Amino acid sequence: MRKIALGICSSISIYKSAEIIREFQKKDIKVRVIMTRNATEFIQPLLFEALTGEKVIVDQFKNSAGIEHISLANEISLLLIAPATANIIGKLANGIADDFLSTFYLAVKCPVVIAPSMNENMYLNPITQENLRKLKSLGVIIIEPEVGELACGVKGIGRLAEPAKIVEECISLMERKDSLRGKKILITAGPTQEKIDAVRFISNKSSGKMGYSLAREALWRGGEVILISGPTFLQPPNKAQVIKVNSALEMREQVIKNYKAADIVIMCAAVADYRPSKTYKTKIKKEDEKINIELIRNPDILEELGRKKGDKLLIGFAAETGNFIENAKKKMKKKNLDLVIVNDVSKENIGFGSDYNQVILIDKKGEIEKTKILSKVEISKIIFDKIEKLLNEI
Ligand SMILES: Cc1cc2nc3c(=O)[nH]c(=O)nc-3n(C[C@H](O)[C@H](O)[C@H](O)COP(=O)(O)O)c2cc1C
Repeated sequence: MRKIALGICSSISIYKSAEIIREFQKKDIKVRVIMTRNATEFIQPLLFEALTGEKVIVDQFKNSAGIEHISLANEISLLLIAPATANIIGKLANGIADDFLSTFYLAVKCPVVIAPSMNENMYLNPITQENLRKLKSLGVIIIEPEVGELACGVKGIGRLAEPAKIVEECISLMERKDSLRGKKILITAGPTQEKIDAVRFISNKSSGKMGYSLAREALWRGGEVILISGPTFLQPPNKAQVIKVNSALEMREQVIKNYKAADIVIMCAAVADYRPSKTYKTKIKKEDEKINIELIRNPDILEELGRKKGDKLLIGFAAETGNFIENAKKKMKKKNLDLVIVNDVSKENIGFGSDYNQVILIDKKGEIEKTKILSKVEISKIIFDKIEKLLNEI
């Protein structure tokens, strides 16, 4: 029987934790509850003890024999914190371990899922958002709160996601674990910078979020990940082998070097098509009224890979602003791809720089799957579900 740990904090939505426990139990998953001291001001541990048949852990120093934050960490497949307060989110993002739950978080190696719940102002406060971003970049899965009637009487964002949705997300995460064990996945991410002079370059709006999110999903599934990344401000996932590059030529060199070892290659980086034909070692002075920068073609990395594809699975992203399916099909044929993922980069709210995306997946057989607008985490899940399906067909 699988077992998870459920961290419960002092939020008004604490009553929903009982329903979360029930949902897990319906799926034959055992739950061990950890409450913060403040959470016990809202509900007595007795309720959760009665539901789970196990002692609720609250204090670090009042447990029975053994170092429980270490022993329990080895027993569970997942740690879920629901509801998660702004306080616990801040503590986890900053390595504070001053009670059982925050100490336990540092000790676990399994996936961690957090479902925040709080007043809208608290949720949108830049420090809460910064903390959530940090946790996300460290691989914590955040189940976004919903918009609705809040306990404080206003309508806004901050309501704990529905228990059934939280549980479904956790189970899906546990089921995906290890499905790519033994596979090596090469992922490129971010933009490239094409140097003009000592301080200037030509680049594009890619943030690297999609590629980094794919890397995290592949790691969840037990894959070994080589992430070749152009310049980004993102924190790479802990367990990936990260290779940082600047230009398209550097990106090519590293992709070619690492390509052989990979089973799956996902070219998600927005590699510049052109670079300045000449670069200056020093800064170009503001002297002439007009200067010309001649651009020359960069090598097409994806096309090169397509020519020596062998039995690897080769996946390309296509950033398009129109004529999506037709252009993508052409690209797939020309570059010998197994799957092309089309991104509409003309919309401001999705694609480049955004946490959200909407894509069309087109495979070799012409099967087309269009997603809704979803977080890049959810998009990554859909892409890897498709990749696993294609792997089974090889
Ligand atoms: C009635 C009441 C409701 C609260 N609801 C929330 C909430 O939904 N989310 C939140 O982040 N904090 C909420 N708080 C504030 C937290 O309880 C407070 O920040 C506490 O220090 C968090 O402790 P913990 O994270 O250890 O449980 C609430 C406080 C009260 C008194």
